[in-house]
Amino acid sequence: QILILDFGSQYTQLIARRVRELDVYCEIHPYNKIPEITSDIKGIILSGSPCSVRDEGAPDLDLDQFRGKLPVLGVCYGSQLLAQKYGGDVTPSEIREYGRANLTHLDLHEDLLKEMTHGSQVWMSHGDTIKTLPGNFKVIASTPSVEVAAFKVEGEETFGIQFHPEVTHSTEGKNLLRNFVVHICGCPQDWTSDIFIDATVSDLKEKIGDDKVVMGLSGGVDSSVAATLIDRAIGDNLTCVFVDNGLLRKNEYEEVLDSYKHMGLNVIGVDSKQRFYDALLGLSDPEEKRKAIGKTFIEVFDDEAHKIEGVKWLGQGTIYPDVIESVSVNGPSATIKSHHNVGGLPDFMKLKVVEPLNTLFKDGVREVGRALEIPENIIGRHPFPGPGLAIRILGDITPEKVATLQEVDHIFIKGLKDNGLYDDVWQAGAVLLPIQSVGVMGDERTYERVVALRAVTSVDGMTADWVHLPYEFLGNISNEIINKVKGVNRVVYDISSKPPATIEWE
Ligand code: XMP
Repeated sequence: QILILDFGSQYTQLIARRVRELDVYCEIHPYNKIPEITSDIKGIILSGSPCSVRDEGAPDLDLDQFRGKLPVLGVCYGSQLLAQKYGGDVTPSEIREYGRANLTHLDLHEDLLKEMTHGSQVWMSHGDTIKTLPGNFKVIASTPSVEVAAFKVEGEETFGIQFHPEVTHSTEGKNLLRNFVVHICGCPQDWTSDIFIDATVSDLKEKIGDDKVVMGLSGGVDSSVAATLIDRAIGDNLTCVFVDNGLLRKNEYEEVLDSYKHMGLNVIGVDSKQRFYDALLGLSDPEEKRKAIGKTFIEVFDDEAHKIEGVKWLGQGTIYPDVIESVSVNGPSATIKSHHNVGGLPDFMKLKVVEPLNTLFKDGVREVGRALEIPENIIGRHPFPGPGLAIRILGDITPEKVATLQEVDHIFIKGLKDNGLYDDVWQAGAVLLPIQSVGVMGDERTYERVVALRAVTSVDGMTADWVHLPYEFLGNISNEIINKVKGVNRVVYDISSKPPATIEWE
């Protein structure tokens, strides 16, 4: 495997995903908590960082422990750290270099740069530059404004690159990463979905034995794939619980339950709509609504778990980004919204946890799901928040408001699917606003609700752009909503990106 040491760059996870795309296993660890360097580790990548190597207290580590013994690739900050620690000179760039650049000088005899071409476009994002290199370091690539765009340490497999090969704007970045990981480190490209499935199923069999497992399903891709893997390992000793919290999309409960049954999962559907509506009664504050829903879910789930005699394990669909320990180089980040389902296990459920997907990124989960032949309506599904429509109805929740929003959302989502737009959008939905506006229908003045439509592209939900849906499509959807959904006379489209807005309105 490849070990990626994280210095806090926003791109670190992207490096890992690119390495995984080469069918090579890798893990991210914080620079200050390095795991034992065993013979399984074939090479090390040092990530970028928001810090400067010139800052006092900048992230640092003892590079001698592996330099020269294992191939090392420093990216951006990682390359500056290598240069500076061994006697080079890192200075502030005269201009902050951000964006596209072209490699004008390339030493194509170097293994790291094989199959790249002169003029290759790369992505730069740095405020510091390497002015001089230590004695036995040599420049192997330059751009018009950055002489040391890439270097190699003579006599060892240690490299540094100033650009970011992991972002798609570095058009040949994948070749460079392949050269490093496969040719220089010698990692076999054998980490495929089928291998993952076989290894995971046999691990699960061994770990769980004849014990019983309970697991909550959400209809989303992660929990569905995790449950299918556990089901492959232990069959009906796995009981899945799918809760109707009354805040799902129109017909979703019935359709998803049906899909699960077709997939052969041992699943119990629990209709708890009223319990959730009761818990939400009179609550308008988004965080209070989230807490009430989280608490009610745990109560419902606990009731079901107690019905399973002798259950020992709780299955969870946790994925790798949830477990990567993030490096905080700029102090702790503020809690913007409490995502209740990232809290883990409530104290009173003393079950052991099994998380078969905790080494996978989302795209890996989807690939494994496809290899397991899970239906596309589950694999390709947009993310949907745990509190569901409750955080898309601004203000208090009533069953009537839920029903109205379900109709609006259904028209929008069906429209996206019928027009071939659904798969181009990362997440979409409708928001019921707590205001009424004046309209006119026939000769009548109306005073009814406003709904907002939201569609975004994103990689992981951390940042997002609004989607430029065709005007004609938006016009048709607006007409259909106003004509068909009683109580709605105005539709608006949200054109804010995240940041500064968030994806959900609450
Ligand atoms: P925001 O609104 O923070 O959303 O930009 C980012 C992603 O998280 C989802 N989201 C939630 N998911 N429980 C969840 O399970 C929550 O409380 C919650 N709030 C937001 C949101 O749908 C988007 O995918």
